[in-house]
Amino acid sequence: MDIRNFPPPKIPLSPVLDNNHAPNSHPEKTPSIFDAKYKLNTTSGRAALSIALEECGTTNEHEVLIPSYHCESMISPTLRLNAKAIFYRINSDTSPNLTDLKKKISPKTKAIIVTHFFGFTEDLTDIRQLCDTHNICLIEDCAHAFFGQINRQSVGTVGDYAIASTMKFFPVFDGGILASQKYNLQNISLKQPSLSFQVKSWINAVERALAYKRLGARGKVLNTLLSIKTTCWSFIKGLRPQESVVTSSPGSSEGGFGLDENWIYVKSTVSSQKTIINADYSDISKKRRAYYELLDDALRDLPSCEPLFKNLPHDVVPLVYPLKFQCPEQYFSALKEKGVPIWRFGEYLDEKVTPEEFPISRELSETVFQFPCHQSLTQDELDWMIKTIKETIKS
Ligand SMILES: Cc1ncc(COP(=O)(O)O)c(C=O)c1O
Repeated sequence: MDIRNFPPPKIPLSPVLDNNHAPNSHPEKTPSIFDAKYKLNTTSGRAALSIALEECGTTNEHEVLIPSYHCESMISPTLRLNAKAIFYRINSDTSPNLTDLKKKISPKTKAIIVTHFFGFTEDLTDIRQLCDTHNICLIEDCAHAFFGQINRQSVGTVGDYAIASTMKFFPVFDGGILASQKYNLQNISLKQPSLSFQVKSWINAVERALAYKRLGARGKVLNTLLSIKTTCWSFIKGLRPQESVVTSSPGSSEGGFGLDENWIYVKSTVSSQKTIINADYSDISKKRRAYYELLDDALRDLPSCEPLFKNLPHDVVPLVYPLKFQCPEQYFSALKEKGVPIWRFGEYLDEKVTPEEFPISRELSETVFQFPCHQSLTQDELDWMIKTIKETIKS
């Protein structure tokens, strides 16, 4: 079945704005990429990765080592600089295969990208040493791990640079972070986004919340105002010549994987930054861990599937709940048809990632589905998702 024909998810795949405004207090310090000394707010994770690669001096003469389990937006920043993307193997628990990584290092290697997949942080001690020995830049990809620790160090503080994708952890339309514990980023100049994008970003976050019936009575008023806006906008668009309607937001915000040059050196919007700064990190971390455990208790023993990770380490704040299916195709369409939100990370791997050389990445790409465990889910939504997954698998 064509993927575009599935109905929209009945419950949100990623966080949405709601009325649960916890006070802006951080009773216990929650480790996050923000603990790195230097930070910049970009429009997306891929924009941050593009800047990190440029900062470490990547050119068309270099190679960048990238996990063989990936999405396109992890590769395009390397290709943009005409450098060569070299893929390395990962193990079945998604950790980097150190033997293969060492084999792939050459005098041309400029950077190694290591990803903390699904929020499960990797011990980077050996890779850090490897990078120091060979004078290679280590880029910590925290797109799935905004929060968490590794050996008591916050995520994003071990690599020379680290990047995050805030859209995955907060109810925002745009946002990424470039961080570094080592390099001062103040010489990097980012443009302010246009006023129209600032407005669009805020409206989009509100519209998503309304679509999932968040925001209560306030939502009803906003809904009316937004309907008026939509009518006026359609009228204005009708008056304009078709060619003047240009793409007005980064592909990342629209769920695409492309890298748009025009959005790399741009700051994230004020509304996105405010949402992130005012969020209660401790509450988000606790909820994500609790919902992950709830899904794990309910789904881990189902026939023909198993959790990707055997347990949830105490210093991990998960992005999603990854479940491995024996016959994925049998269940994927059935679940999507019922409106269950599913992420399929690494669905489209680069053609150089052959089953012969990278059997594990190919297997993960085909068999692992990720279900949401984010902080905005309600108990009813979690119950519905669990019930629907169970019924689908048992039938
Ligand atoms: C592991 C990983 N790294 C980087 C990115 C890029 O992040 P963004 O979508 O914010 O550009 C993604 C996006 O899904 C990702 O999954």
